[in-house]
Amino acid sequence: MEQMEIPVHVAIIMDGNGRWAKERNLPRNEGHRKGTKVLEKIIKHARHLGIQYLTVYAFSTENWNRPPNEVKGLIRLFTSYLDQHIKKAAKDDVRFHVIGDVESPHIPEELRHKIKLLQEITKDKKGICFNMAFNYGGRDEILRACKRMIKENDFGDGKNTEVTEALFSQYLDTAGQPDPDLMIRTSGEVRTSNFLPWQLTYSEFYFTSHLWPDFTIDEFNTAIEEYNRRSRRFGQSE
Ligand code: IPE
Ligand code: IPE
Ligand code: MG
Repeated sequence: MEQMEIPVHVAIIMDGNGRWAKERNLPRNEGHRKGTKVLEKIIKHARHLGIQYLTVYAFSTENWNRPPNEVKGLIRLFTSYLDQHIKKAAKDDVRFHVIGDVESPHIPEELRHKIKLLQEITKDKKGICFNMAFNYGGRDEILRACKRMIKENDFGDGKNTEVTEALFSQYLDTAGQPDPDLMIRTSGEVRTSNFLPWQLTYSEFYFTSHLWPDFTIDEFNTAIEEYNRRSRRFGQSE
């Protein structure tokens, strides 16, 4: 790993919790619980490697369509994650940030409050920026950004505000952050499932068939090694 170029921003679609549980005859929520433990290890390792931004897909706008019991379990899990991290925030150097529609009435008030609290108390932390995509949908993010951009600017005739990529990016949930260099998806699915459609335009993709609860630090390192073998051209010739 010593000679490796470490990506600035890594994004992960943590998929396969349900199948992991099914293989063991456990309820799906046990898979999600194990998945959270793996996430903690990966955040720690990412910090250790010097990755500056880590963005993980935890709950999509489409995931509300799952059985109520599973949705309830995921909300409970996220709430207890926030509780634990609010408690230890003073000792930690992680900047916590949620991307997604946090204002949605679907999200219980108590959870919304805890999200805001953890963001507030970690906003000046100098370590890794950890983005949790919760109630996140890429198309939803683009529409929310469009609406705000139109509301806060005057694009009428004779006005000089121009719609540019730079202006639009400022209204995305990831405003001010660099785009992901590397996107990892576990579980063997080879699709992006509405994750960061604007930001992943020039990211390198790494797909693995391992289910998220089985994902390891070794495999994370393998993804970075693979990233180092890629030639990023951004549309230019070599
Ligand atoms: C990912 O695992 C976690 C969430 C989407 C919340 P899944 O729950 O999608 O697991 P599989 O894909 O059904 O195995
Ligand atoms: C994407 O996984 C969302 C998360 C990992 C949170 P899904 O399991 O919801 O995606 P599909 O249904 O396989 O596309
Ligand atoms: Mg899935």
